[in-house]
Amino acid sequence: MNAFTTNQSPQPLLSVENIQTFIGQFHILEGVSLTVPANSITVMLGRNGAGKTTTLKSILGLTPPREGRVVFDGMEIQGKRAFNIANLGIGYVPENRAIFRQLSVMENLKLAERKRGDLEQHADFIFDLFPDLKRLYKLPGNHLSGGQQQMLAVARALVPDNKLLLIDEPSEGLAPILIQQMMEAIRKLSATTTVLLVEQNFIMASQLAQRYTIIDDGKSVHSGLMQDLAQNEELVHEYLGASVRTAKSGGEQ
Ligand SMILES: Nc1ncnc2c1ncn2[C@@H]1O[C@H](COP(=O)(O)OP(=O)(O)OP(=O)(O)O)[C@@H](O)[C@H]1O
Ligand SMILES: [Mg+2]
Repeated sequence: MNAFTTNQSPQPLLSVENIQTFIGQFHILEGVSLTVPANSITVMLGRNGAGKTTTLKSILGLTPPREGRVVFDGMEIQGKRAFNIANLGIGYVPENRAIFRQLSVMENLKLAERKRGDLEQHADFIFDLFPDLKRLYKLPGNHLSGGQQQMLAVARALVPDNKLLLIDEPSEGLAPILIQQMMEAIRKLSATTTVLLVEQNFIMASQLAQRYTIIDDGKSVHSGLMQDLAQNEELVHEYLGASVRTAKSGGEQ
């Protein structure tokens, strides 16, 4: 079967099918499904504690799903070890800016290599996206501002060749000007890779993503085109506690 002889859309780069994830005895994900088409940005939305981060960790095998399927690039990956999943070409930017604070910008980037030469190969692209990092490359992580640390965390995921980037709340705690820069960077990098983003800033999400999935109470409850969600005040209010015109979901504004 190929895309030219059927009316079906091509296979998504990632599909998560009805995953069930436990942390200890707690049943955290009770049926999350989503698809991420290649060469696009898909955003996961949902209130605090809905299960967005756990979904990313389940894809990555950090909290492996007990049931359901995760298919990446045509291959079932649920049950594989996290290290092997990452090596298939999935980059992860966790929500807590996990950089090495004692190491320099350059050392942080170098340690993100999967194979020798990764950094050299992608350095121009990375420094073009984040010129601050080039300027500050000798400084240790703990001398960077919060925004610069967030940029370094994203940059680390760009060092190896990745087909898919999972980025958890890149705008968290950033000043508006830095949110703009981060948005611009994610938009640019999506030209060469596919992105699954978690983002509670609804304005940012709606400007960046083509598709969305809403997670609520451990389940995926709605998916579709972002342009449709941006018109659906009722849905946004029901599940995100936000207005389509306010910056932040989660009822924090
Ligand atoms: N290690 C853990 N032990 C027990 N419960 C956990 C653990 N990690 C997460 N949870 C629970 O799982 C649920 C989903 O958490 P998760 O971090 O995936 O939510 P989230 O949608 O990413 O939230 P946020 O927007 O606050 O980042 C929450 O109720 C949380 O309390
Ligand atoms: Mg989270």
